[in-house]
Amino acid sequence: MSRHFLSIFDLKRGEIESLLKRSFELKQLKKSGGHAHTLKGKVAGMIFEKSSTRTRTSFEVGMIDLGGTAIYISSRDTQLGRGETIADTARVLSSYLDGVIIRTFGQERIEEFARNSSVPVINALTDLEHPCQIVSDLFTIKEKGIDIPKMKLAFVGDGNNIANSLIGASAILGFHLAIASPKGYEPNSDLIRRATSIKNEKIEIINDPKEAAKRADVLYTDVWVSMGQENEIKERLKVFEPYQINSELLTFAKPNVLVMHCLPAHRGEEITDTIVDGPNSVIFDQAENRLHTGKAILEMFIA
Ligand code: CP
Ligand code: NVA
Repeated sequence: MSRHFLSIFDLKRGEIESLLKRSFELKQLKKSGGHAHTLKGKVAGMIFEKSSTRTRTSFEVGMIDLGGTAIYISSRDTQLGRGETIADTARVLSSYLDGVIIRTFGQERIEEFARNSSVPVINALTDLEHPCQIVSDLFTIKEKGIDIPKMKLAFVGDGNNIANSLIGASAILGFHLAIASPKGYEPNSDLIRRATSIKNEKIEIINDPKEAAKRADVLYTDVWVSMGQENEIKERLKVFEPYQINSELLTFAKPNVLVMHCLPAHRGEEITDTIVDGPNSVIFDQAENRLHTGKAILEMFIA
């Protein structure tokens, strides 16, 4: 039976550590002009029902770097977009491919695909989770010299897919996570329950961004309007206004706090230009590291 990567909870602590170690090796190799050919002859299909710059490109380049091939499958051009069921699509496509990378809406869509797929399925973002992004974020944090189990990470903003996957990472690795969201925009309650049943004292779900940012080693935010929520823009921009990462909020964190954002950013909304481009920002390292960590994920699940 194939092993899938649908949620950050699918990884054990030791597996995250292995992914970070392998990402480091793959990054070094790439920088020295070398390549591992661990996916030689393998073909990954990439079904994307939402837009993507980083995830799509880094997985495509990653497959090529590892000696394999990636085929981009836009749901608009397949029979999936005309009503063929997910189950039938999964049965057919998995008979051609060695792995499937999916970006979609509801988590139940990727789960349905995985149940009917004979090859591994990787979550490239759903409304609920973005586990591949979190592996890159953890790698970036480690690369910058922070001791992950001892850190405090503050996530300020919408309790969205990034916040949800951070909750899983906190439970698995045991770091202190404080999430500040407006009332009604907190992270997924089932995931919070699942995480607190593993590790309860270090996950704080609060409403005050300053309280969350206090003495933080890492300050993370994401857009206030995720893909698929475009009809809520007006209301969201109003509700989230006090949750901007700006110079004032940074004064509550440790002086050398790392500022993170998974991108794309809406500069001037959830984060100011000064902070995105400032000395504390590791935002573009996170983006670059999607390639190296993506390759480690491809090796772990598809090789
Ligand atoms: N961070 C991220 O997943 O970016 P894309 O939407 O561009 O893939
Ligand atoms: N929360 C954002 C992340 C984009 C990478 C979204 O789902 O649109």
